[in-house]
Amino acid sequence: MGGMRYAEISGIPKYETIGFQVISVFFLILFYLEVNHRMQGIDLGKKVSYRLLTIDEVDKMEQVVVLDNLVLDVSKYKWEHPGGAFLFDQLKGRDISKFYYGGYSLEAGVKPVKHSKIADIVMRTLVVGEISWKGKNFEGHIVVKGEVNKLTSVITIDLRKDSIEVEQIESLGKHVLIGNNNEKRQYTIANSMRPSTYESLLEQINDSINGRKVQRDSIVQSNDVTLVVKNYKTGISKFLNEAPLSQPVSLRGPLGKGLNLKQDETVVAFVGGTGVLVFMDLVALLARQALNLSPTQIGNAFKLILHVSFESRAQSIGLSLLEKYQELVQKKGLNNFELHLRFGDEDEGKWGKEYAKKQFKGRDLAKTRFLVCGPPKMNAVLNRAFEELSKEEKIRYEVL
Ligand SMILES: Cc1cc2nc3c(=O)[nH]c(=O)nc-3n(C[C@H](O)[C@H](O)[C@H](O)COP(=O)(O)OP(=O)(O)OC[C@H]3O[C@@H](n4cnc5c(N)ncnc54)[C@H](O)[C@@H]3O)c2cc1C
Ligand code: HEM
Repeated sequence: MGGMRYAEISGIPKYETIGFQVISVFFLILFYLEVNHRMQGIDLGKKVSYRLLTIDEVDKMEQVVVLDNLVLDVSKYKWEHPGGAFLFDQLKGRDISKFYYGGYSLEAGVKPVKHSKIADIVMRTLVVGEISWKGKNFEGHIVVKGEVNKLTSVITIDLRKDSIEVEQIESLGKHVLIGNNNEKRQYTIANSMRPSTYESLLEQINDSINGRKVQRDSIVQSNDVTLVVKNYKTGISKFLNEAPLSQPVSLRGPLGKGLNLKQDETVVAFVGGTGVLVFMDLVALLARQALNLSPTQIGNAFKLILHVSFESRAQSIGLSLLEKYQELVQKKGLNNFELHLRFGDEDEGKWGKEYAKKQFKGRDLAKTRFLVCGPPKMNAVLNRAFEELSKEEKIRYEVL
């Protein structure tokens, strides 16, 4: 006992204690190596192979959520989750990355939670598969910068020799992840918003409306990606809005569930603000198809009914393309697009349960999918509306 006290006081450990410390250090090193090893797995760029799953397979699975391109089974973990199990009941089948990285909270007014490295380790143990349309890491630099409105920039990132393969129907509505170890945020791939592409398509639609010959051009570069970024004056959006030309940018994509379009369905979408971007490349594709410029084809039985809400015309995004395509649809008697606009806080046509229910009328609900993509408050209101409506009628809806 005395020896023990001496050892403690003098700082010289007794031999039993030395043995204990050696073992402790050994386990500490082992723990460090294990954590380090798992952390490296967490770098989403690292090659770890999982079972590849299509979005349709993911949608049929019980109790799974999607994080970037990983499919996680949360059925058991949800009961241990420090943030509560109920969250996962509301998120079945959904992409949770925006909540997980702390960009959004599930309820408006509640502070988002950015998860720790420990959470990353736990998350890795829940992976049951990977979305088959995989994203990868890119190193690029900004080659084009423009203004969409006073608060919003458009940037085109050259991916050098790499290609992100965004010209496929499978990647419509997907996003890229931009950030560093501390913060990660999602930005929708919107290649049609590249200023030269956008202007050229408007001109082509105009030519067609006015009976002029449509000039062909090579409007899409496969080795660049265009993003539209609203400036929230903090975080990643500030960085991207203030970045100069030639600024290097690392990104990962395409990620998320995307629109997962079916050739014979009607998509009724309610979008607000930058949420419209999820549909811009689809509208551009439909327009190019109508002008016989598109190599990718969406079947004649497909229809997009877009309900769009902006604060004002001045703060709108992509509106001239949406309106021009609507004009072309009317002129050519096409049946694959409808546009319904609302601005600001107009009471007329306010979005909620009544407005959503009106859209059911005269529709084959088995072939209709309702999608919601807007700012948090709008998403919450429409999520509740569709949740209640789904008790009355069999509908398919998703809040993106
Ligand atoms: C799948 C997906 C695709 C997205 N695509 C785009 C896109 O194409 N263009 C784009 O600009 N943004 C897009 N976002 C939003 C984007 O990921 C960021 O959330 C946003 O840029 C704010 O990040 P930040 O780091 O700049 O600011 P933060 O520090 O995260 O937020 C700054 C402030 O803005 C508020 N805020 C953040 N986002 C919103 C919002 N959407 N509506 C209202 N208030 C908000 C926050 O509550 C906070 O007070 C997308 C999000 C998701 C999940
Ligand atoms: C499968 C994915 C997830 C895992 C593995 C996970 C894990 C964790 C862990 C370990 C914590 C403790 C704090 C930390 O270490 O970061 C935590 C806290 C929290 N999580 Fe998650 N989480 C997941 C998804 C989500 C989602 C999608 C949401 C929100 C929609 C969420 C909301 C929260 C909240 C609110 C807390 C804070 C609880 C508190 O301290 O009061 N989590 N999570």
